[in-house]
Amino acid sequence: MEHSLDTQIAVNRDTVAEVHDGEAIIVNMSTFDYVELDRVGTAMWHALLEGGTLNAAVDILLARFETDRATLETDITVFVDQLTAVGLVDAAPAPERNDAAPPAPTTAVDLYLELLIRMVGGFTIRDEADNGRGIFPYHVGNRVQGRDMPGEALSMIGLIRLNNVRALAERALIEGVAGDFVETGVWRGGTTILMRGILAAHQVTDRKVWVVDSFEGLPAPDVEQFPLDAMWPAQQGYLKVTLDEVRANFDSLQLLDDQVVFLKGWFSETLPTAPIEQIALLRLDGDMYESTMDTLNNLYAKVSPGGYVIIDDYNLESCRVAVDEFRETHGITSPLQVIDWAGVWWQVPNV
Ligand SMILES: C[S@@+](CC[C@H](N)C(=O)[O-])C[C@H]1O[C@@H](n2cnc3c(N)ncnc32)[C@H](O)[C@@H]1O
Repeated sequence: MEHSLDTQIAVNRDTVAEVHDGEAIIVNMSTFDYVELDRVGTAMWHALLEGGTLNAAVDILLARFETDRATLETDITVFVDQLTAVGLVDAAPAPERNDAAPPAPTTAVDLYLELLIRMVGGFTIRDEADNGRGIFPYHVGNRVQGRDMPGEALSMIGLIRLNNVRALAERALIEGVAGDFVETGVWRGGTTILMRGILAAHQVTDRKVWVVDSFEGLPAPDVEQFPLDAMWPAQQGYLKVTLDEVRANFDSLQLLDDQVVFLKGWFSETLPTAPIEQIALLRLDGDMYESTMDTLNNLYAKVSPGGYVIIDDYNLESCRVAVDEFRETHGITSPLQVIDWAGVWWQVPNV
């Protein structure tokens, strides 16, 4: 699409920008499309926000970069094309009169949940520490995508999957899907804290959040029975977070109450007799074949018609094979929806 240089640029309501060290990642939170920008791209993004039109952005950039207007005009036009293609901005011809509509109102629920997601996802701090592991160096883009091992954040799953939890939990509430919210594999608890916050924000008092974990990390892999779990070495210290710590994390955000139920122990031991009756949203984040299969075998039948199942680790062979086998054995044909590079979800059919 060709944009005139007078084109007015409006950032979409669903667009979130995270900038770190002069580099940005811009995400469309409704489609989860995103672009990663280097320093020049980030400067163009800021110039567009500040200037409001392509022409004004060019003026701003001319003051910063030693280049000519024609080159910048071409670059900014291509840039805006890329941003509009993934729905990050709307580009409209400049209005004849100055009668732009006021921005859409933002509700208190939106403001609270967006802030809660930023807090549990580690976006209110610069979560530089990666526990010295150095596997995925800190970069805000990695944090958005949940690719790193954060030092401080209460959830490791990143902005995109946290927003997916919010979207499906709210959908379940709006659609009146019966049951509780459950996560198996909670680590520091951030995702379940968000689930509790969603209930609080919508003043839901008759549903619980089940926080299911060993609180001792992954089980030792049973390689004889589950050969795919050989990829998980025993003693993943980073994944060990005690129940006291998780409880304190809930408390720190004033979300610890009797709507939160902790289920401590190995899934194979706790889930068969878990007093969970009905589930509206089931989120699996136990990484391993055994953990994934134990959850599905024991909890899937409790998911209500119309309920949602989220798989955090579909990128991992150990988890993916368990999910695929379970779906095949039980004739589950609901299409898998892709969240991002790791996660998928599906909706249990309405009967
Ligand atoms: C990747 S972490 C979960 C991340 C978390 N959902 C978040 O939002 O950051 C995996 C968690 O699963 C737990 N886990 C995995 N397999 C388990 C099992 N079989 N029984 C109990 N806990 C298990 C581990 O203790 C760990 O806390």
